[in-house]
Order: sequence, then C-alpha cells, then structure tokens
Amino acid sequence: MHAPAPTASPKMSARHVNVFYGRKQAIDDVSIDVDMENVTAFIGPSGCGKSTFLRTLNRMNDTIATARVDGEIRLDGEDIYASDMDVVQLRARVGMVFQKPNPFPKSIYENVAYGPRIHGLAASKADLDRIVEQSLTRAGLWGEVKDRLNDSGTALSGGQQQRLCIARAIAVDPEVILMDEPCSALDPIATAKIEELIHELRGKYAIVIVTHNMQQAARVSQRTAFFHLGTLVEYGVTSEIFTNPRQERTKDYITGRYG
Ligand SMILES: Nc1ncnc2c1ncn2[C@@H]1O[C@H](COP(=O)(O)OP(=O)(O)OP(=O)(O)O)[C@@H](O)[C@H]1O
Ligand SMILES: [Mg+2]
Repeated sequence: MHAPAPTASPKMSARHVNVFYGRKQAIDDVSIDVDMENVTAFIGPSGCGKSTFLRTLNRMNDTIATARVDGEIRLDGEDIYASDMDVVQLRARVGMVFQKPNPFPKSIYENVAYGPRIHGLAASKADLDRIVEQSLTRAGLWGEVKDRLNDSGTALSGGQQQRLCIARAIAVDPEVILMDEPCSALDPIATAKIEELIHELRGKYAIVIVTHNMQQAARVSQRTAFFHLGTLVEYGVTSEIFTNPRQERTKDYITGRYG
C-alpha cells in the first residue's frame, strides 16, 4: 500500500494496526494520518473494515469482548492504547457520530448539557447554557430548537436528531470527530445540511467520515482512504483518488465494478 499522504501536522496517526475478532482478522496492517485541515473519507465495499478501523481511533472496539487491536495509534503524539490512558476522556477528545441518530431519551438541552456536566466543563448554569447554545449553533440546529429546548431529543426529525448528536459530540470540546455513515438514514435535504455542516467544522476538528456514497466522499472530503478486505489499498488527495486512482482495485470500486 502507499505511504500515508503527507500531512503537515497529523492530529492522529495510526501505524501497522491490526484488528482481530477472535481468530478472524478484520484489519491488516493499516497505517494512516488524519489532520485538522482535511476531512478524511473512508470508502470501500461492505465488510472491508471501515467501521472496525474507525472504532480503533477512540477505542470503541474495547467494548467488543472478542476484539483485539495491535499496532500503534497516537493522538497528538500520545499513545491512546497506553495503559494509563483515560478512555472516557479519550472518547470526549475523539467523539463519534453513528449511522442511526441516537439521542438520549431526554430533553434537547440535556442531550447537549450531559457531556460538559460530567466532564466538569461548565463553571455555572450560565456557562452550561452558553455551551449548549454554542454547540447547537455550530451543529446548525440552534435556530430550529431554541424555543423548544425542553422537548425530547427523540421528538426531532431524523436529520435534526443527527445534528443534535453532532452538537452533543461538539459540546465536550473534542479534537476529532468520527462519523460512521452519518447520512445513511437521512433524506437528501437533511443529508445536504450535514454535508454543509462538515464543511463548516473543517479546520476546527479533525473529521473522519465513513460513507458508501461516492459523491458524498467527493463533496465533503479532501483525503480519501479506500479499504478492501481489511487492508488500506490507497490513501490520498480525494480529487486524485476519484479521477486518477493508482490502484486497479480502487478504480474498479469507484467506477462501480464491485462493492
Ligand atoms: N462485533 C464483531 N464481531 C465479529 N466480527 C465482526 C464484528 N464487527 C465486524 N466484524 C467483521 O469484521 C469485518 C469488517 O466489518 P466492518 O463492520 O468493520 O465493515 P464495514 O466496512 O464497516 O462494512 P459496512 O460498509 O457494511 O458497514 C467483517 O467481516 C465483519 O463481519
Ligand atoms: Mg460499517
């Protein structure tokens, strides 16, 4: 596989990462850097390991009993698999947004306020109010919910729920946001809103997005990683991956020959 595309300042760097579920290997020797300046898209056929690899970046695989990760993953140079790493803290620094919007069955306000409160990020109620407003604003949802903050998060539309989940991730002041097919349950209008949001968040956070939608990868990302059968086949500048892939397997996938 190619060397990771050079990045000036990698926010996260993975080296020789392998993931096993029991005896089955799902990720095979993956090395990659992600940075703040570029949104990174993970693409590849179903089952190739995109979600598995994404979950290594904030140790979500720790929650799967059979999963074992080896190799090295660093966040600002710090080994996230070190024994003294605080995993709760890590998951605040490296937030995650899932395929299916999963707001807590609590008010819109509480969905966003919960994280900052448990992480002790707000000094007062006014401070917490400010964090909630700012997070909802950044997630492009404030205008739609500011008069109904006490309504249940689950009463929102799917697209609004997904933006609420993004606000929840933002509220704890993350450095990296991982999104696993965040638009696959959304209609085109809600999808466009999330894509716009990703553009706005670029540079504030390092963003990694898994998507099955080639047009979406081309629209929202500046770096694309193509996975196949657990390996990283090609990683580079998105426009080059889509117009001039170096690997035959990448070309076959982006031209729809399999997947
Ligand atoms: N919890 C698990 N236990 C055992 N095997 C798993 C588990 N999760 C994933 N796998 C296996 O690991 C491989 C990679 O799966 P993964 O979900 O990472 O793929 P993916 O690229 O995200 O696929 P999709 O595009 O369908 O979401 C697959 O063979 C899958 O069956
Ligand atoms: Mg997946």
